[in-house]
Amino acid sequence: MDLTLKIWRQKNANDKGKMVDYQISDISPDMSFLEMLDVLNNELIEKGDAPVSFDHDCREGICGSCSLYINGEAHGPDRLVTTCQLHMRTFKDGETIVIEPWRAKAFPVIKDLVVDRTAFDRIQQAGGFISVNTSGNTIDANTIPIEKEDADNAFMAATCIGCGACVASCKNSSAMLFVGAKVSQFALLPQGQIEATDRVLNMVKQMDEEGFGNCTNTGACEVECPKGISLENIARLNREYLSASLKG
Ligand code: SF4
Ligand code: FES
Repeated sequence: MDLTLKIWRQKNANDKGKMVDYQISDISPDMSFLEMLDVLNNELIEKGDAPVSFDHDCREGICGSCSLYINGEAHGPDRLVTTCQLHMRTFKDGETIVIEPWRAKAFPVIKDLVVDRTAFDRIQQAGGFISVNTSGNTIDANTIPIEKEDADNAFMAATCIGCGACVASCKNSSAMLFVGAKVSQFALLPQGQIEATDRVLNMVKQMDEEGFGNCTNTGACEVECPKGISLENIARLNREYLSASLKG
């Protein structure tokens, strides 16, 4: 495949940045999108040019670091896949592909396609945990009865990989799908009840302080989420927040 790539280049956080065109040839349709970028970077390095910076780690859909906006969609045109799982056979020979970083005030660009997603870490640190007694008196988790539907929904919520596609695809840059998933995975289980009130209040407070926008129910986040996190988690977040506010 021969392709034209239009890639956002930005030297650092203070640089204005611009789109730059690259031609690339002989790309196998079986390559992953990141392997295609590896080929481009090898060519740039051979020519003495600076390679394109982009985030990646696991390359198997687990870590959530491969955050690219491809042809106007978070993680590209496929559904339920991360950028690292996107294959070049999704594109046509001769196509022009536009590659940009996540665009959100709370995710500032560090360099080229790499953005700072530590806002998500700070939201997690504000309440995305449970306290467990590890002194030797712990109860075996399997002795606590949990309804199958609750266990399934908690596990579904826990599949959120913190990639930020929900924020990038939302016109308000809302992080409600991410926070909804992180609150839900504990709210549905008995182990999460002890800190439930503080958790939701603190995580929402941190979310607002980080500069994420509000949810206006457009649903773009659910469509672009590579893990199929459902809008039901936002509804649960709202219920948890209301109930915690009344208690507080
Ligand atoms: S909810 Fe989906 S899109 Fe948002 S951070 Fe989690 S996995 Fe990524
Ligand atoms: S590199 Fe880890 S999810 Fe893509």
